Amino acid sequence: MTLGVNIDHVAVLREARRINDPDILNALYVACSSGADQITIHLREDRRHIQDIDVSNIMLHSTLPVNLECSIDRDILNIVSKLKPHRATLVPEKREEVTTEGGLDVFTYEDEILYAIEQLHDSIIPVSLFVDPTIEAMEKSKELGAEIVELHTGSFANMFAMLNSSLPHSNHSIKELKLPRYELSNKLEKSIEDITTAAKHAKSLGLEVAAGHGLNYHNVFYMMDIDEITELNIGQSIIARSIFSGLADAIKEMKKLTTR
Ligand code: PXP
Repeated sequence: MTLGVNIDHVAVLREARRINDPDILNALYVACSSGADQITIHLREDRRHIQDIDVSNIMLHSTLPVNLECSIDRDILNIVSKLKPHRATLVPEKREEVTTEGGLDVFTYEDEILYAIEQLHDSIIPVSLFVDPTIEAMEKSKELGAEIVELHTGSFANMFAMLNSSLPHSNHSIKELKLPRYELSNKLEKSIEDITTAAKHAKSLGLEVAAGHGLNYHNVFYMMDIDEITELNIGQSIIARSIFSGLADAIKEMKKLTTR
């Protein structure tokens, strides 16, 4: 399994103080030498964490492929086309969201996504689409010309956390998932089925299949059972653990859990 380590969260901490500490390049060097297979970063329109200069520096110094997440905004696409990452992952973006909440709507924004894919392909950049795990989204992603789909595992992760952690008793309890345990458990099973079915369908269409969002040391084993998924992109849980164990150990531990 390819492990993409998302280092945006290091820049989140830096931007909280608007200074140059922690240095994102230190995170890059540690990730490159600790078992990561890919560096994943997101250049958001609001620049809330990764800045343009970070992308240039990471592109210049990374010994691993760089997976650059971005929206379908034209200005961002122009920047990404010039930067030439190893891959661009198109994601939905809303300014008020805390993080990417749900996959790209490949139906409503079909024309814009097609334009984005064509522009990126003109710059020889392979394209991944971050989509919800549905058959329809797999087929549309293929039709639009993407090479890769990244299945959004956020709902799965939320259900897992509501069932297996203290989340329901915290301020961040997810209202719509405050359900009897058996009901939540059924929903979790269904979400795993949806991810499995989507992954199999995507592979049968010739797409590469990645997954990400909300994956952590406790729930990632579910993804390991789905053979069609060959890449995971993980950020929050690795950077959170690194506060206590250091980034190198946090990555090594995740790499161990995600090795088939
Ligand atoms: N994949 C994509 C496309 C994302 O947008 C994100 C979040 O930035 C991730 C993976 C990683 O999610 P998390 O930080 O929850 O591990």
